[in-house]
Amino acid sequence: MYKIFNTTQEASHYTAQRLLARIQSNPGANLGLATGSTMEPVYHRLLEFLQREPVDLSQLTTFNLDEYIGLGGKHAQSYRYYMHQHLFNKLSIPEEKINLPDGMSMDVEEACQAYSEAIRASGGLDMQLLGIGSNGHIGFNEPHTCFSSRTHVIELSEQTRLDNGRFFVDKKEVPTRAITMGIQDILEAKEIVLLATGMKKAAIMADLFHSTVDEALPASALKQHPDVTIVLDCEAASLLPQQVFNEAVGIMEGVR
Ligand code: GLP
Repeated sequence: MYKIFNTTQEASHYTAQRLLARIQSNPGANLGLATGSTMEPVYHRLLEFLQREPVDLSQLTTFNLDEYIGLGGKHAQSYRYYMHQHLFNKLSIPEEKINLPDGMSMDVEEACQAYSEAIRASGGLDMQLLGIGSNGHIGFNEPHTCFSSRTHVIELSEQTRLDNGRFFVDKKEVPTRAITMGIQDILEAKEIVLLATGMKKAAIMADLFHSTVDEALPASALKQHPDVTIVLDCEAASLLPQQVFNEAVGIMEGVR
């Protein structure tokens, strides 16, 4: 299902509402969380909602999608740092219920296996939030990642290193490898919400719309899932067929 909004602000607002609704209906939920600039306004909104309407977060568990190998939690570009800056430092989720892959692990293979097992042992993800890379990656599952993959080490593509280089002082500092939740782990989430905003996501969203289920386009795996919402702003949706546009326009009361 597509939901298309006029602005990035509205699309982010809607996405944050979906997260909030999941937390309110199940305070013990397991949430799969994502990073990237797309998610910043979402977390900002979610914090605003939770300030207005506090919810007990002591039972909530979170699992992040991915982490760079070689960046510790104090590195400003690590996803652990990002999540604490944008969300966790301002919420009262118990630290032991916050899960991110460990990019500094001495035994990455074991850490990967343990991560997928921890997701399963917790009862599985109730909701997975996703962004999308310009090459169609979800998490850091680059093109041609096997759809049956579990948490694994991935060699980042040149495109991804180029895209993410904007956050680093020197593009050469972008790590070459990362740990990512696998596509199978993602597909086992009960509900998936993918958010894409801005013109730079328009081409990949059109490719995804037209694509069959194909490992060359990782996000196309979502077409096999029964409960996926794709949330877009007008720019990211601008290359979709007009008919999709007409059927998917979201109405946001009190946001415009
Ligand atoms: C990174 C993350 C992805 C994210 C993507 C898009 O590569 N690993 O999980 O979806 O970037 O990022 P942005 O939102 O900054 O475009």
